[in-house]
Amino acid sequence: MGGRAQPDWKQLPLVLLRLLCLLPTGLPVRSLDFTRGTDNITVRQGDTAILRCYVEDRSSKVAWLNRSGIIFAGQDKWSLDPRVELEKRTPLEYSLRIQKVDVYDEGSYTCSVQTQHHPRTSQVYLIVQVPPKISNISSDVTVNEGSNVTLVCMANGRPEPVITWRHLTPTGREFEGEEEYLEILGITREQSGKYECKAANEVSSADVKQVRVTVNCEYI
Ligand SMILES: *[C@@H]1O[C@H](CO)[C@@H](O)[C@H](O)[C@H]1NC(C)=O
Ligand SMILES: *[C@@H]1O[C@H](CO)[C@@H](O)[C@H](O)[C@H]1NC(C)=O
Ligand SMILES: *[C@@H]1O[C@H](CO)[C@@H](O)[C@H](O)[C@H]1NC(C)=O
Ligand SMILES: *[C@@H]1O[C@H](CO)[C@@H](O)[C@H](O)[C@H]1NC(C)=O
Repeated sequence: MGGRAQPDWKQLPLVLLRLLCLLPTGLPVRSLDFTRGTDNITVRQGDTAILRCYVEDRSSKVAWLNRSGIIFAGQDKWSLDPRVELEKRTPLEYSLRIQKVDVYDEGSYTCSVQTQHHPRTSQVYLIVQVPPKISNISSDVTVNEGSNVTLVCMANGRPEPVITWRHLTPTGREFEGEEEYLEILGITREQSGKYECKAANEVSSADVKQVRVTVNCEYI
């Protein structure tokens, strides 16, 4: 590790905690490892995320932070986001509830608890999932036999959906391709018909759409 370290966003919560006087200023950075032991929480877009945190006694100083700032310091809400609230079902609970989670909420969140001179932080990484959705697909086309045809199917989702194309024939043919683009060189009449695009990820059932390709006989 040569040279001076660049300012690191991972240390931002630390700076903010010092500003809040929750941490002694002489604390060596090494004693707080923000990358270790991170729990992941996976939530679907639109659902409510609850990031759990508990304190040992009521006099603890507590705060919730994300990458860019303080969300709550004690009972004081610093965030302007109305979707964010504390969840305190018991006096020792200090959990964070985020309603209608969206993709920009993804990231790490830190719960900082200071009891006497022993700061403890727990970090949670919020992963936001989005069901697959086909955003754009080729329109039905009519081409002459022997032409080259390119069908396109684009989809959104998190994780990135896997796209597969299939030619729907009475015999139920195999998969034709596994990409956004399906290229058919020198198309034959047997290759006319419906083509199905399927966009799938592990979040929910796949999104499926069809394109009809009509092949004209060249010598009419
Ligand atoms: C959290 O997710 C990251 C990336 O997906 C993974 O590398 C890590 O092992 C996960 N941590 C836990 C505790 O599941
Ligand atoms: C972090 O919190 C700030 C203030 O509450 C908010 O404006 C911002 O959107 C949050 N960022 C993320 C990545 O959650
Ligand atoms: C869909 O794809 C076509 C061809 O690539 C493009 O012209 C069109 O702008 C796209 N539409 C959207 C909504 O992305
Ligand atoms: C179809 O594509 C092939 C290979 O790219 C090319 O050699 C051929 O000229 C194309 N045919 C037509 C009719 O465009």
